[in-house]
Amino acid sequence: MTRHLLAIHDLNTDRLRGLIDEGSRYADQAPTDDTRDQLRGETVAQLFYEPSTRTRCSFELAARRLGADVLNLDLDTASTTKGETVIDTVRTLAAMGVRFFVMRHGDADTVAAVADALPDACHLLNAGAGTSQHPTQALLDMLTLHRAGYNFNALDIGIVGDIAHSRVASSTITALQRLGVPRIRLGGPPAFLPDTAPEGATLCHKLADAVAGADVVMTLRIQRERMPAELAGDVAAYHREWGLTDARIDELAPAARIMHPGPVNRGVEIDDGLADGDRSLILDQVSNGVPARMAALAWLHRGDD
Ligand code: NCD
Repeated sequence: MTRHLLAIHDLNTDRLRGLIDEGSRYADQAPTDDTRDQLRGETVAQLFYEPSTRTRCSFELAARRLGADVLNLDLDTASTTKGETVIDTVRTLAAMGVRFFVMRHGDADTVAAVADALPDACHLLNAGAGTSQHPTQALLDMLTLHRAGYNFNALDIGIVGDIAHSRVASSTITALQRLGVPRIRLGGPPAFLPDTAPEGATLCHKLADAVAGADVVMTLRIQRERMPAELAGDVAAYHREWGLTDARIDELAPAARIMHPGPVNRGVEIDDGLADGDRSLILDQVSNGVPARMAALAWLHRGDD
């Protein structure tokens, strides 16, 4: 039985497909009594050691729609400021009967250590760990592609931007690869590309090579907080070479839909026209975050394999 959702690797292909279908059902339905009863009596505690809008709020809505109570820890005033370890904090909450923990942390090892330290009855959902994994973002991205009508077996997707420092990229690439996506191109300046291409993907050094003819183009924020300032480079130069605009997409991939996990830095990785236009799936991604996280919480609660 899978007890935690720490990485997209925790989900085999069948499980991933099952969660996409379950998320799609939640997205289609008005909440029923059965849905609202699934986590009734449970408490979900949210511990965000890094900023968040979409992920934290959508986990909270997902938990409430399944009938759970939600505790949002204010970490600026929590006992960690008095020297308590993160592990003691989660064990304290577990002693109050909290069984679900949603955690974001800059250090992936801390998330793994908390998972190991939690009592057997407890579940940890990784809401973003360092540069390594963000599995529910990958799940909501897959749900968005599915609901936009794409067939994973025929999809051509270009992901551009700061791939090397992005936990969204690493989770989403694995999910795409597990679902059999035949063409995954990754593009960005050398400092933002991994040294070697992940399995099933190719590295591209020009925007045109990364996105020409793609069905979907996903762009990412530069993760300035995860690199020395000099590596992040000059924003205007980045925008000239890698920024997505209506004109560039019209020229290179006119049929493409556009994705971005947010938060968006407008005028850097993407222009307003494209972010807000008909081709954008950005707000669909946000909407799908709630049913995707409902599916993840309900699955861990059921405890099926
Ligand atoms: C991302 C994150 O925190 O990893 N945001 C998100 O969860 N939607 C991406 C980012 O910070 O750029």
